Amino acid sequence: MLNQRTNMFSSLAILFSLVSMMLGTVLADKSAGCGKTPTITSKTYTTTVNGKSRQYIMKLPQNYDKNTPYRLIFTWHQLGGSATKIVNGEDPNKGGALPYYGLAALDKNNSAIFVVPNGLNNGWGNSGGEDVTFFDTMVKTIEADLCVDTRLRFSTGFSYGGAMSYALACARPKDIRAVAVISGGVLSGCAGGNDPVAYYAQHGTSDSVLNVSGGRQMRDRFVKNNGCTALSSEVQPASGGKSVKTVYKGCKEGYPVTWVIHGGDHNPSQKDSGASTPFAPGNTWEFFSQFT
Ligand SMILES: *[C@@H]1O[C@H](CO)[C@@H](O)[C@H](O)[C@H]1NC(C)=O
Ligand SMILES: *[C@@H]1O[C@H](CO)[C@@H](O)[C@H](O)[C@H]1NC(C)=O
Repeated sequence: MLNQRTNMFSSLAILFSLVSMMLGTVLADKSAGCGKTPTITSKTYTTTVNGKSRQYIMKLPQNYDKNTPYRLIFTWHQLGGSATKIVNGEDPNKGGALPYYGLAALDKNNSAIFVVPNGLNNGWGNSGGEDVTFFDTMVKTIEADLCVDTRLRFSTGFSYGGAMSYALACARPKDIRAVAVISGGVLSGCAGGNDPVAYYAQHGTSDSVLNVSGGRQMRDRFVKNNGCTALSSEVQPASGGKSVKTVYKGCKEGYPVTWVIHGGDHNPSQKDSGASTPFAPGNTWEFFSQFT
């Protein structure tokens, strides 16, 4: 009798811990905004960070559902760019980036909320960490109102926007699931920079603005942090105008590094010869959407 009861209690205990584990994975990652009727819509917002007025544009997915935890994707513009230019896109044949770096068009499942911040002086100088603080403020404000999967925040950008994504990978490794750095440099700093973050980057060997050796050094920080096996020699673009994608081996579970090298210049919309579309959007979307 006593034995039976003990058995029953321990079975119940196991059942309860299984159920709470399952609930934990289902519930724990939802932001406070889940279940709330949202006040945020797809438009420009203004906030104050360190006494400065800051703007960002929100894009909610079609048929936003307050109970669905969405991905949160930050898209940072280049030097001289703006949030509006990211939203509208610029001619990819003239060195521009597609709207939302081409990612919104690839989000066929309406799985993402996009955040498009606007830089002070059209850049991301991140003086005293003010742009990272801006990021923190946006995350807090957005997630209090909208339903976000807090494990699935992403950041991408070209040039200065890549620099800002890198700065976040350095300074906010726990808050950012993955970054995609398109022809970046270390222009927004790297506070911390000792923790793993899933890292995609692409760079041109003929980059005349931010040289490729800088891009390789940035990549190597996360090759090391993520525990990946370094390559014995540098990968070069294939002949005939084709980029080469390297997926690093040996990385810690959940912390991949993918590196794409091409022969082009400083360009967010580099294409492989014969291709009709730039490869950054597809590569970035593939990299981000491996995390669920
Ligand atoms: C949409 O979701 C399905 C099911 O999760 C997934 O297999 C597919 O890859 C997703 N499509 C895109 C474009 O992300
Ligand atoms: C690449 O750029 C970095 C940072 O601006 C600079 O320090 C370095 O000298 C450059 N290297 C080459 C090979 O041009």
